[in-house]
This record gives sequence, C-alpha cells and structure tokens, in this order.
Amino acid sequence: MKYQEILNHVVSVILDGDNPKAVYDALHDLYNLLVEATGISAHDNGDDAIFLETGKAISSAQAAHCLLEVERTRRFVRGIVQAVHDLRKKFGNQRINILYAGTGPYSALVLPLTAIFSSKEIGFFLLEINSLSMQAVKNLYERFSLQEYVQAYIQADAVKYQIPDDINIHLIISETMHQALKDEPQVSIMNNLLPQLADGGIFIPQNITVNLLMIDGGREIQNMFAPCNPPRQLLGTVYEIGMKKFPSINISRIAVPKETKGFTDLSLFTEIEIYGEEFLTAYNCGLNLPVRIGSADQYAGKTIEFEYVIAERPYYHYFAMES
Ligand SMILES: C[S@@+](CC[C@H](N)C(=O)[O-])C[C@H]1O[C@@H](n2cnc3c(N)ncnc32)[C@H](O)[C@@H]1O
Repeated sequence: MKYQEILNHVVSVILDGDNPKAVYDALHDLYNLLVEATGISAHDNGDDAIFLETGKAISSAQAAHCLLEVERTRRFVRGIVQAVHDLRKKFGNQRINILYAGTGPYSALVLPLTAIFSSKEIGFFLLEINSLSMQAVKNLYERFSLQEYVQAYIQADAVKYQIPDDINIHLIISETMHQALKDEPQVSIMNNLLPQLADGGIFIPQNITVNLLMIDGGREIQNMFAPCNPPRQLLGTVYEIGMKKFPSINISRIAVPKETKGFTDLSLFTEIEIYGEEFLTAYNCGLNLPVRIGSADQYAGKTIEFEYVIAERPYYHYFAMES
C-alpha cells in the first residue's frame, strides 16, 4: 500500500468505526512506513532525551513510540479533527493555523489532518526541541510532498517560544506529558502557550486533572486481566490545568477519611479531556496509569498537602498533617 492509501485508511478507521483491532493494525502499517521514511524507530538505541529545567523532552525513539499508544493516538486524532471542524465554522474560511508543540519525529497527531483538510484550509507551525525529531519531520513532509501544509519548522523550547505578533494561532496541540503530569514539561508548555492562543482558539488537551483516589490495590491488578469494576473513592483534585483551569494552583490539601473501608492504597489518577467527546481516563493508555502515593492506613484521618513542583523532572512534594 502507498503512503496516501495507508493514511486514508488510518483516518477512516479512527473516525468511522469502533474497531480497535483495525486501528491497531492501521497505526502499525503507518508506523512501519514512517520508520522507513524518517530512519527513526521506537527501537533506536541512542538516548537523545533533553533535560530542561521544566522537564524531560523524551528521546526521538521514545517519541516515535507514542504513535503506537493506540488509544491515545486514536482519541487525540478524533478530538483534533473535531476541533478543526469547529474552528473552521467559527473562523469562516480563514486558514486555521495550528501550532504543534512537541511533534516527535512523525508529527503523529496532525499528520492525519492532511488526509482530511487541504493546505488552504490548515497550516502547521511544527515546533520541536529535539534536532533528530525535527529533521525527521522535515524529511517526512518533503518525502510525501506535504510542504504546502507547513508554515514553519521551529526548533525551539516550547516553554520559552513566543508566537510572532503578526500570527494568529487558532489551535495549539501539545502532548508532552507523563502520568500525573510528572517528569515532562506539559505544565510549563501550557503556562507559556495557553495565553498566546488567538481569541476563540482551542488548546488540546483542553484540560488535565490529577485526582487522589482510595483504591483496592488487589482489585486494580485483577481488573487489568479481567474487568471487575474495582471500587474507587475520589478524595479530591490534586492538580488541574487547562482552558477550564488557568492559571493552575500549585498547592492543594486533601482530607483522607478515618475509615478506609477495605481500601488499601492512595493513588493519583490522571483524567485528560482532549476535546469534545474525547477523553482519556484510568488505564486507557500509559498516560492514565495510576501513581501510588502510599497506603490508605498510613494516611487515614490525616490531611495531605501536595505541591506540584516544576523541576528537571516535575514532581509532587507532599506530606501529611493531622486533620
Ligand atoms: C510525548 S512525545 C509526543 C510526540 C508526538 N507529538 C506524538 O504525540 O506522538 C513529546 C515530544 O515533545 C518534545 N518536547 C518535549 N518538551 C519540549 C519542549 N519544551 N519544547 C519543544 N519540544 C518538546 C519531545 O522532544 C518529544 O518529541
């Protein structure tokens, strides 16, 4: 199959159907083609990760692997396509300018748009800090004659990048996150870019919420092998950022009940509102895996204070106090 056929097929299975196996197969076909076109694969050995003061920009190989996080890619692409349709309605026939911060080597989340919209309808500002990934994206757009979509290739730090005054960006996309917003610079990128969005524009993901839950660790493991609807109790929101919550608040306090009622652990769960109907929630993909805080008994009857700390690997500083 040729590139265009493969991409069209990816788009049709992602948008039209509810067939996870077909999406899995189609994304793997696309991946194989992109490996060949860019020379970058998820199995490359070199570690070209970059440690910024605001988080880790993952290596080109790890970023290549993101395409194969099938449910993540499927839901992001569905949300992004919907957002472009909505922006086209809102902004009449203006070309929709899309800033993609952290393209990885394949620009995986916007490439499918080229099978739906013409280069008169959408234009890409492709921003990436990793030189291998940036070069791979350039090679890709040349190889498949997609240059007309590209307004600019920008090798820069998205945490510091300033959109030129004469450019209106209607849609900003950045998926530069890890579980519970730890390790990677998503928060600092949102802090920099969200205020630079054009009036009426859209940021994807729309909102990210990290909640503290009491869980039964044994039932959670069971649930991974055979769904068993494990009991979970929401205790509160530890951190939230996005179009619904901006600027975010770095400190939160959450009370843990005295009675832990058979729950064994406290864990952080990440909810990602992508756009419209598209969400990623517990266990949907690697980004939604829980992060353990401690045992439920250890914190029973106490209040935990959390502080989200921006660093080379963003993390939560937390401690318990008597309620
Ligand atoms: C999780 S990967 C996602 C790759 C691709 N967007 C996708 O969804 O498949 C994040 C990408 O963002 C890039 N990145 C991380 N922090 C960045 C920053 N501060 N400025 C520019 N790019 C960054 C990384 O180098 C990596 O390629």
